[in-house]
Amino acid sequence: MTNVCLVGLGRTGMEIARFFMEQRDIKIVGAICSEFSPKIGKDIGEVLGLPNTGAKIYSPGQLKHVIDKIKPDVFVDFSNYKATMSMVKTIAEAGKGLVIGTTGFSKTDLMRMRVLAKKHGAAIVYAPNITLGVNVMMLLTNIVSRILTDYDFEISEAHHRHKKDAPSGTALKIADEIEKGLEFSGVEVNRPIPIHATRAGGIVGRHQLIAAGDNDKIEIVHESFSRKAFAEGALKCVRFIRNKKGFFEMKDVLDLERVLSSYFDKTKTAAAAEG
Ligand SMILES: NC(=O)c1ccc[n+]([C@@H]2O[C@H](COP(=O)([O-])OP(=O)(O)OC[C@H]3O[C@@H](n4cnc5c(N)ncnc54)[C@H](OP(=O)(O)O)[C@@H]3O)[C@@H](O)[C@H]2O)c1
Repeated sequence: MTNVCLVGLGRTGMEIARFFMEQRDIKIVGAICSEFSPKIGKDIGEVLGLPNTGAKIYSPGQLKHVIDKIKPDVFVDFSNYKATMSMVKTIAEAGKGLVIGTTGFSKTDLMRMRVLAKKHGAAIVYAPNITLGVNVMMLLTNIVSRILTDYDFEISEAHHRHKKDAPSGTALKIADEIEKGLEFSGVEVNRPIPIHATRAGGIVGRHQLIAAGDNDKIEIVHESFSRKAFAEGALKCVRFIRNKKGFFEMKDVLDLERVLSSYFDKTKTAAAAEG
């Protein structure tokens, strides 16, 4: 059984709480919300509109109390980057696992997380794109751009009207994977990959990559239907982080590098056998 404390019980945190409560190997033992939040002191069940769970909501100032008395094994953080940075040291020092879904960190923040994980032998999973399918899309993008090096690449993404940043961080990461794939195959990338962004209605999230040659094209599309996709990714991270030490990303959780290298190794072996 893994005892989990949620940091942030907003749109995503609440979805995660509901999903985690359905899991036999996970127990939610508490949650932390913003300072002065009306949720503080309430039972998590009450906030979710469910029966009481016995797990309470705490303020950020009660973090030490939560660690010492509530004894979570893993913190799952979907709050905001300032809140995360104010807690990461205490959580790492206590040797607790930390799954960070929150976005918006600077390079310096990420470096600090790495250092803290190493120094205290703690485990941190940093997952700004926690949806499982999006991470597989990254892998496919990398493969496509390694092989179809003279194709034209275009990315489009669509999100709900409330999403502030455009293009999305995921679209930028897909562009990054294309560049990495092309560079891997010795192609110099001298212009940015075009990205088209739509902000409209209640679209949860859609990313599309087109790789078009003169005579054919490939399209890779990922679409999220519900926020539960984030909760599924968070669950995978919590199960991964048990008994780990160090700083990890989603590619480690899904073991994507092994998948990619084993694919290309097999291709090489087959070519050598034929040759
Ligand atoms: N990794 C991914 O794939 C992914 C997916 C979805 C969202 N996100 C990221 O997750 C974060 C949260 O998104 P959201 O849509 O759930 O936001 P949200 O609905 O605004 O919820 C934010 C939560 O953070 C809490 N909070 C604020 N300050 C805090 C503090 N000092 N200590 C502890 N908790 C604090 C808020 O508490 P109150 O309830 O008291 O206001 C609220 O519960 C964002 O950074 C977003 O970009 C990432």
